[in-house]
Amino acid sequence: MKFGHFDDQNREYVITQPDTPLPWINYLGCQEYFGIISNTAGGYSFYRDARLRRLTRYRYNNAPWDCGGRYIYLRDEASGSFWSPSWQPTRHAAEDYSCRHGMGYTTIGSTFAGIEAHTRYFVPLDENLEIWRLTVTNRRTTRAKISVFASVEFCLWDAQDDATNFQRNYNIGEVEVVDGVIYHKTEYRERRDHYAFFACSEPAVAFDTSRDAFLGPYRGWDNPAAVAAGKLTNSVAHGWAPIGAHQVKLDLDAGESRQIVFILGYQENPKDKKFDPPNSQTINKERAKPVIAKYLGAREADAAFDRLHAHWEKLLGIFQVDTPDVHTNRMVNIWNAYQCMATFNMSRSASSFESGIGRGLGFRDSNQDLLGFVHMVPARARERILDLASTQLESGGAYHQYQPLTKRGNNDIGGGFNDDPHWLILGVAAYLKETGDWSILDEKAPYDNKPGTEEPLYEHLHRSFQYTLERLGQHGLPLIGRADWNDCLNLNCFSDTPGNSFQTTTNKDGKVAESVFIAGLFVHASRELAEIAGRRGKKEDSTCFLTAADRMEEAIKQHGWDGEWFLRAYDSFGEKVGSKECEEGRIFIESNGFCVLAGIGLDDGRAQKALNSVREHLATKHGLVVHQPAYTRYYLHLGEISSYPPGYKENAGVFCHVNPWVMIAETRLGHGDEAYDYYLRINPSAREEISEVHRCEPYVYAQMIAGKDAPTHGEAKNSWLTGTAAWNYYAIAQWILGVRPTYDGLEIAPVIPSSWPGFTATRIFRGVTYKIAVERKGAGNKVALTVDGAPIEGNIVSAPADGRKEVSIAAVLS
Ligand code: BGC
Ligand code: NOJ
Repeated sequence: MKFGHFDDQNREYVITQPDTPLPWINYLGCQEYFGIISNTAGGYSFYRDARLRRLTRYRYNNAPWDCGGRYIYLRDEASGSFWSPSWQPTRHAAEDYSCRHGMGYTTIGSTFAGIEAHTRYFVPLDENLEIWRLTVTNRRTTRAKISVFASVEFCLWDAQDDATNFQRNYNIGEVEVVDGVIYHKTEYRERRDHYAFFACSEPAVAFDTSRDAFLGPYRGWDNPAAVAAGKLTNSVAHGWAPIGAHQVKLDLDAGESRQIVFILGYQENPKDKKFDPPNSQTINKERAKPVIAKYLGAREADAAFDRLHAHWEKLLGIFQVDTPDVHTNRMVNIWNAYQCMATFNMSRSASSFESGIGRGLGFRDSNQDLLGFVHMVPARARERILDLASTQLESGGAYHQYQPLTKRGNNDIGGGFNDDPHWLILGVAAYLKETGDWSILDEKAPYDNKPGTEEPLYEHLHRSFQYTLERLGQHGLPLIGRADWNDCLNLNCFSDTPGNSFQTTTNKDGKVAESVFIAGLFVHASRELAEIAGRRGKKEDSTCFLTAADRMEEAIKQHGWDGEWFLRAYDSFGEKVGSKECEEGRIFIESNGFCVLAGIGLDDGRAQKALNSVREHLATKHGLVVHQPAYTRYYLHLGEISSYPPGYKENAGVFCHVNPWVMIAETRLGHGDEAYDYYLRINPSAREEISEVHRCEPYVYAQMIAGKDAPTHGEAKNSWLTGTAAWNYYAIAQWILGVRPTYDGLEIAPVIPSSWPGFTATRIFRGVTYKIAVERKGAGNKVALTVDGAPIEGNIVSAPADGRKEVSIAAVLS
């Protein structure tokens, strides 16, 4: 069952039924001002940090879902009836409801009692504000008098404090209302230099800033007293809950259409210019006023929208494909790339499942996210890499997370996830291959942000490598530390205290438990690093990295192979995890996917065997599960992984993040059909038809789909902010379609399904536009390339020597 459809032409997903199984959201903003918006106008906004600079309130885990938003109400003056064109919060049965989630904007509307209303929400580029452009059309044959109400509920900035510290917060809410603009200034009197504003393009007939006055006692957003009465009360909030609400009156001829623009924005003042007059408590509004004046004109708002559109056109234009499969096309061309940008902007901070107060930017996550967006925003990738490196510890290890506002490592979450450092190497390698900007390796970055510790980025990578060598266990495999990629495989935690964090509790010294996954990652990362060192003329380093990688590969073959698949780990008693000897958790996806991806066992049959075992034991029609059998009870020595009921999350759920490792592994064996089969199983668009089962948005990946042990097998959760976005993009773009940046040029190495006659693609790479046509003439993956009509050796196309900016590549597969 579907709740809408894709409009690929306009790069939109169109939701036509408002009561989707879960809120289906989109993101507004792509620089510093952000918001999430659901298909029924729920969501919230923030400036840079979803916890510390939250503009508007949102109630997570509320019933009903998705409470708090950018709510507009219309009221028919004649009948007194009122409704929300976005369905929520009044939930009237309107006609022609539609929500169009597009690239950086969302338009929601419907028709009720002959009044059509649509609101387009977006954040203009280079501005810290959002625009709501409402269009109201009278579809009746008679005149209509309509009151429009637009409302937001302000959050008192720190979202965590806002949701907990009521004894203080009910006293501090403050606003100003000047010239029809509502200014939210809670805590501005003391240490905050920022405020929010909510403005309206039409002369407002009335306003409200007190939630109590607007809603009335014991009433909710579905039935505000002031809207029902048809008149806002000009209330001024003192303490309690400040809101912003404007009332505008429209008198519409039959067929007449009118536009109103609302602006919600954020502004900061220099400390010495906070007040105007200087010794007053009144906000100095000199910075906000011109911005408000500019965007309240519908023409400026439309021009800003056009610029946003052009921005996305440019980003997505960097890689476009035309394959025989619609799901591949729309995910690669539109939604997967778009999701990669959202994960770059948000890391794991704000979604329907991430409350915006919990997590900063993950070290591991942010490095992996690079794989998906480096080609779109290389300059910002560079900055992100250097920020990440600056949080690295002198040991080469990493804080597991850092805070976006301060760019400092987060001590509360700690470190010691022993895979973390290697992702920095892979992130940098991806950056170098895409851009050829070797200067980044000379950029100096401190350790743990400590002045005086600065070293070139290359040395940071060296320390990442060294970190593992200094932490090997009894089998010569890397010690796992707190955990590896699987945050929940906590082999040193041994927690029996409810509420203890599995992520920060350690009861073992960590000298025994080893990870075969980190071993595979180390092999892969060290070989990448060797290549980088070699190209920098550091021969000795390069040999050292290669030797260590070879030695690790040996250790894996000796101690990390279980006969039919790669082991997962050794626990803190030195016992195997992910072995046929285990009762539960006999085979795991991570070590098998990653070891083969790293090329281990390609020459001796192990890789093939491992992937056969993965298919036999882990494949379900909804994707590959993390392990089998699921853990049926809590194991002290395994930690959080066994805390989840079977089939959910890391306990044998389909973790969509790691499925692409197996896809890539299959391509390394030349298996296009298998790789593509796995790709389609979790491709959100391919699952659109089963939206009632999948439940999350059909246009973006979710972190997890319930595994076969779960009663809700096939149900997705944690959509949007997940490493799944980057890895699936990377797998389809670079390994299945095989359009792959390398140090020497663009490699064309497709491993596509045998049934495909070919595909075409356009890829802008280092300033050159490559038009690629792949044609299948035989069943294999052998590539013969013709570049601008002339056959070339090998399958890497180097930059045109004569500076041409457009190149045609014809690839024949046989
Ligand atoms: C989740 C993991 C997540 C970890 C760190 C765990 O509870 O299951 O998926 O990576 O928390 O936030
Ligand atoms: C989500 C985390 O963000 C990611 O870093 C981790 O690898 C997976 N969970 C698996 O535990």
